[in-house]
Amino acid sequence: MDRIRIRGGRPLEGTIAIGGAKNAALPLMTASLLTEETLTLTNLPRLADITTLQHLLVQHGVSMTIAGSEAGEERGHVVDLTARRIASTTAPYDLVRKMRASILVLGPLVARCGHARVSLPGGCAIGTRPVDLHLKGLEKLGATIELKTGYIEASAPKGLRGAEIVFPVVSVGATENLLMAATLAEGETTLVNAAREPEVADLANCLVAMGADIEGIGTDRIRVRGVKRLHGARHRVIPDRIETGTYLMAAAITGGSIRLEGADYGSIEAVAKVLEGAGVEITAFEGGVHVRRANGQLTGVDVMTEPFPGFPTDMQAQMMALMTMAEGAAMITETIFENRFMHVPELCRMGANINVHGSSAMVRGVSRLAGAPVMATDLRASVSLVVAGLAAEGETIVNRVYHLDRGYEHLEEKLAACGADIERLVAD
Ligand code: EPZ
Repeated sequence: MDRIRIRGGRPLEGTIAIGGAKNAALPLMTASLLTEETLTLTNLPRLADITTLQHLLVQHGVSMTIAGSEAGEERGHVVDLTARRIASTTAPYDLVRKMRASILVLGPLVARCGHARVSLPGGCAIGTRPVDLHLKGLEKLGATIELKTGYIEASAPKGLRGAEIVFPVVSVGATENLLMAATLAEGETTLVNAAREPEVADLANCLVAMGADIEGIGTDRIRVRGVKRLHGARHRVIPDRIETGTYLMAAAITGGSIRLEGADYGSIEAVAKVLEGAGVEITAFEGGVHVRRANGQLTGVDVMTEPFPGFPTDMQAQMMALMTMAEGAAMITETIFENRFMHVPELCRMGANINVHGSSAMVRGVSRLAGAPVMATDLRASVSLVVAGLAAEGETIVNRVYHLDRGYEHLEEKLAACGADIERLVAD
């Protein structure tokens, strides 16, 4: 298993290009199931999760061609997806278990074919991750749902019918699944308390380009008028706000100054406001965001994760790494997932002072972190260890970096280009 070695203590200086958003690309790819015409996605990131979903879509009958790249982009960021006919409506356990977002084929398959058999994704390191809201929403649209031997069997032989769906909890995936299903349902659907994440809006904009009739994009109340069919389109994936936020933290913890080309300030405003309170200077420029550690010392600030536009849960671990070296204390509260503090014991092994009380962690700043061999457990926990390693004295070895490869393209190259002493130790 590959590992990453970091020798910390070097301020990051330079420019990093921000890639397409993983959490926008995944639902956008499943939207290709809704039409027999070609959906072309540009600015698609090359990540392990994208490859996993490609394998799943191919067995459903989607043909995929890497259509090259756009000006200034490396090859492989433009992909044509064509689901001329659906070869199978089953999403098998051995593929779904690799990546929970596979559940996003459910809505499109039921809408297009009238039935689907999708493995229950099961939990993951950060929580039980139920899909009850996805299933209840589909039932509201007229599908019958049965759970058999670990599979969701959904059927709507007469097609889906529009309905009002009220989410008791904000759910990104359930909003996306039901938004896609509603585009082909007969009549009008209203999604109430819908997720407002930029990735949801990006999906909705792509669906409109494909011929869907959607109002309220970007709000918590989305109205969809079903259409008979959708057609092909060409759509550019929005920049990855979590990748952006991660590099903001890396620059801040090393006392550096980085230009993030392609970053969208509006999608990271909550993170930027928190960082400014901690003493980090963040300014938007045409086409990106610049980050610099304003004065010498970082200051501890409290953070509570919330659905967008609040502070994103996917930035919680990276923020905690940053706060380990801030003056004073920071109370970090995780409100979205029930088990998203697994980076805490690993950060403590590097000398951090963190105490967890239920869904809150009290971080008391220390003057130095010491490099150590550390273990990653999920995508964002693993990158928080990289952030800490960049500032730690000595050598940090991050194990199980396959977690990183799921969500960060060229992580070590991008950091090394800004002066970090970081390299991947390829397992022999
Ligand atoms: C998406 O996951 C993201 N993944 C996650 O990013 C992100 O952390 C999460 O949204 C929250 O922003 C993708 O977009 C592929 P949810 P999702 O449904 O859709 C509960 C990363 O690191 N819930 O918004 O699965 C759930 O348990 C990943 O890139 C139900 O109770 O998240 C959680 O407590 C990690 N029933 C809360 O809602 C349901 O049916 C939010 O989950 C669905 C969710």
